Amino acid sequence: MLARSGVLSLAFTLLTGHAAAIDLDINSKDSIKSAAKVLASGIVAFYDETLNEDLIPGLFPHPYYWWESGLAFNALVDYYGLTNDSEYNSRISEALQHQLGDYDAFMPANQTKVLGNDDQSFWGLASLSAHEVQLPAPASGSWLEFAKNVFDTQTSRWDTHSCDGGLKWQIFTFNDGYNYKNAASNGQLFLLAARLADQTGNATYAEWANKIYNWTTEVGLVSADQHVYDGTDDRQNCSAVNHIQWTNNHAEFTEGAALMYKASNGSQKWTDIVTGFVKASSTFTGDGGALIEAACEKNGKCDIDQRAFKGIAVRSFGRAAQVAPIVADSIHAMLNASAKGAAKNCESGGDNVVCGLSWSSSSNGTSEQATAADGNLGEVLNALQAIQALLWPTVKFINSTIGTVSPNATTSGSPTGTSDGAQHTGSGATLAASFTLVLAIAFTTALSC
Ligand SMILES: *[C@@H]1O[C@H](CO)[C@@H](O)[C@H](O)[C@H]1NC(C)=O
Ligand SMILES: *[C@@H]1O[C@H](CO)[C@@H](O)[C@H](O)[C@H]1NC(C)=O
Ligand SMILES: *[C@@H]1O[C@H](CO)[C@@H](O)[C@H](O)[C@H]1NC(C)=O
Ligand SMILES: *[C@@H]1O[C@H](CO)[C@@H](O)[C@H](O)[C@H]1NC(C)=O
Ligand SMILES: *[C@@H]1O[C@H](CO)[C@@H](O)[C@H](O)[C@H]1NC(C)=O
Ligand SMILES: *[C@@H]1O[C@H](CO)[C@@H](O)[C@H](O)[C@H]1NC(C)=O
Ligand SMILES: *[C@@H]1O[C@H](CO)[C@@H](O)[C@H](O)[C@H]1NC(C)=O
Ligand SMILES: *[C@@H]1O[C@H](CO)[C@@H](O)[C@H](O)[C@H]1NC(C)=O
Ligand SMILES: *[C@@H]1O[C@H](CO)[C@@H](O)[C@H](O)[C@H]1NC(C)=O
Ligand SMILES: *[C@@H]1O[C@H](CO)[C@@H](O)[C@H](O)[C@H]1NC(C)=O
Repeated sequence: MLARSGVLSLAFTLLTGHAAAIDLDINSKDSIKSAAKVLASGIVAFYDETLNEDLIPGLFPHPYYWWESGLAFNALVDYYGLTNDSEYNSRISEALQHQLGDYDAFMPANQTKVLGNDDQSFWGLASLSAHEVQLPAPASGSWLEFAKNVFDTQTSRWDTHSCDGGLKWQIFTFNDGYNYKNAASNGQLFLLAARLADQTGNATYAEWANKIYNWTTEVGLVSADQHVYDGTDDRQNCSAVNHIQWTNNHAEFTEGAALMYKASNGSQKWTDIVTGFVKASSTFTGDGGALIEAACEKNGKCDIDQRAFKGIAVRSFGRAAQVAPIVADSIHAMLNASAKGAAKNCESGGDNVVCGLSWSSSSNGTSEQATAADGNLGEVLNALQAIQALLWPTVKFINSTIGTVSPNATTSGSPTGTSDGAQHTGSGATLAASFTLVLAIAFTTALSC
């Protein structure tokens, strides 16, 4: 699919019209809400246009992969929960339901070429957020049940054939990256498990969270001082680790650890872990304390996926601060700086909005700004999530049952077999291109040299 002329002309109008940085007073709830509305409406306008042409609820067009659509709908679910603006709820609900696919677990048959475990869990986390904010119930089933289904399908893929465990990046053998065990897939399952434990009080989820965290540290995806590394090749029994660090992985582990800290009633173990993650997050603070995608932002080499990572990160950091007050101050300092930088590096005019990747206080809007339709969906989503993240301390919709689970209980029962889907083989392998694919291929190639 190519860029649409209609969309491009909108962007042109914006650039030549009256545009101004988004006003944001971080001490005013109304100001935060109206800035968030500008960004959310820019995203929804692009979505509506796509929907009018393609008639497929839940998708943003090429070059945005399926996972990023899941992220976008999660951001809009959060937007509702944080602002109480329900304008987009029916569209969000329709989108999530339409992408449910097999097992009611966000596995649409026609997305298999881009459907890795991390891609799937973006949607699972979105569904769990829909449950938390009580988005009106779906036509059948429940948001919580769909999130549980993602957990069940993924834990059934827990792979003990190599590395003593871990979740492979890919679900299907025909996709490149099938032999890569990555931080994103394992970190998001860790987070999903910790969030399900928090929501349901069912100890099975907390046991899995413990087990997954333990495995990531055993193989070195998470270091002893809580740095999070991208992934490892299971054909070499996970003995070599790709040490690239990303904001999203780091923050999602931080949120999971914060939930486990809370679940364990502030145990020493999880206190050390969650404070360790927050300390290590200094890897990602740039000028003025705002978040920076350290691996690629300064040299302008972040790809389309990577340009959406900071939004995932601010979401998870904001939630971590909410559940683990011991780390709230340093997280809030970073979130405040990020929100200010994000507002400064976006411009709105008429009914559209452009944003750049940088939130730095010294770049003064020099990172390339564009609309969601014009290639910067990630940047606009990042800004939305950064600004609305200021509202996490004002809401209390997480239905926590923490205190009733035993987070350090030993795991009972072992995972069984692989998913039905994992047996597929066949054509289409070369088209696979989902989350962090390019990186993983580069890494596995380097290993085989
Ligand atoms: C949320 O909005 C609804 C109307 O859409 C209103 O009835 C309700 O009181 C609002 N809740 C809060 C907490 O503002
Ligand atoms: C994929 O499947 C869904 C429903 O299962 C369908 O509505 C849609 O048209 C299909 N195609 C694409 C590209 O999503
Ligand atoms: C494979 O890796 C796991 C996890 O690091 C380790 O426990 C196991 O001993 C390794 N097995 C071999 C044969 O190296
Ligand atoms: C707890 O969750 C697990 C995993 O989904 C499930 O198998 C089990 O039935 C649940 N237990 C209760 C008491 O709901
Ligand atoms: C992981 O769990 C095993 C078995 O309980 C334990 O021996 C090991 O110390 C744990 N590793 C870490 C890093 O916590
Ligand atoms: C949590 O720890 C505090 C003291 O640190 C203690 O007073 C409280 O009873 C504990 N709660 C639970 C549920 O264990
Ligand atoms: C962050 O901004 C909020 C206002 O949104 C303020 O209440 C808080 O004190 C600030 N926190 C830090 C650590 O700067
Ligand atoms: C950015 O703008 C601020 C004032 O808005 C100014 O103090 C600062 O020097 C500028 N930084 C750069 C790198 O231009
Ligand atoms: C929140 O938890 C309570 C107690 O378990 C339960 O009755 C209620 O239905 C839950 N709310 C949601 C939205 O799941
Ligand atoms: C969990 O482990 C901590 C030590 O890490 C211990 O103090 C606590 O009693 C354990 N809790 C349960 C429920 O086993």
